[in-house]
Amino acid sequence: MSILEYELRVKTSPEWVDVAKADFDAFLKDHAACERKAAALAMSMVQHYPDKPDLIRGMIDLAMEEMAHFREVIKIMLERGLQQDNDEKDPYINQLLKCIRKNGRTYLLDRLLIFSIVEKRGHERFMMMGLALKDEKMKDFYVRLAKAEYRHYTLFVKLAHQYYEAEEVQQRLDELLDAEAEIVRHLPFRAAVH
Ligand SMILES: [Fe+2]
Ligand SMILES: [Fe+2]
Repeated sequence: MSILEYELRVKTSPEWVDVAKADFDAFLKDHAACERKAAALAMSMVQHYPDKPDLIRGMIDLAMEEMAHFREVIKIMLERGLQQDNDEKDPYINQLLKCIRKNGRTYLLDRLLIFSIVEKRGHERFMMMGLALKDEKMKDFYVRLAKAEYRHYTLFVKLAHQYYEAEEVQQRLDELLDAEAEIVRHLPFRAAVH
């Protein structure tokens, strides 16, 4: 395992995939919103850190890739006659964001590591969904997205290492992985990515 990789501390139960597949339309709508929010978030990072060229380059590429995912999910939704719902608060993301320390120096570190963990969880869940789907096209789609999420999770760790000392990154990652595992353990399963 490279310095850019780590394991999540709680595995998603296979029950989640059953719940998500049981209302696949709702899952698709939530998934589309996740891609759109991921793109918006990457663009907000671009605007927030004008003095960090590597972060800007990485986040613009990420925003474009998340928008491409959004376009694909929307296409699938429109083919099925589905409309987007109003945005609801994502309880998983909200609880994770509460872990961000407001202190100026570590604010970026916390954001990078939390976004990394969200991508890693996305990788796990899209892979589960891909393996559970029967339709070949949809299966391939989710496996392909899972692979993209893998790259995204390591991109955020790489940026964290670029702007902070390795020891501090590891220590904070350790705390945030524990926090994320607690959040996942307590959240009910929904027909949604989280
Ligand atoms: Fe994505
Ligand atoms: Fe992503």
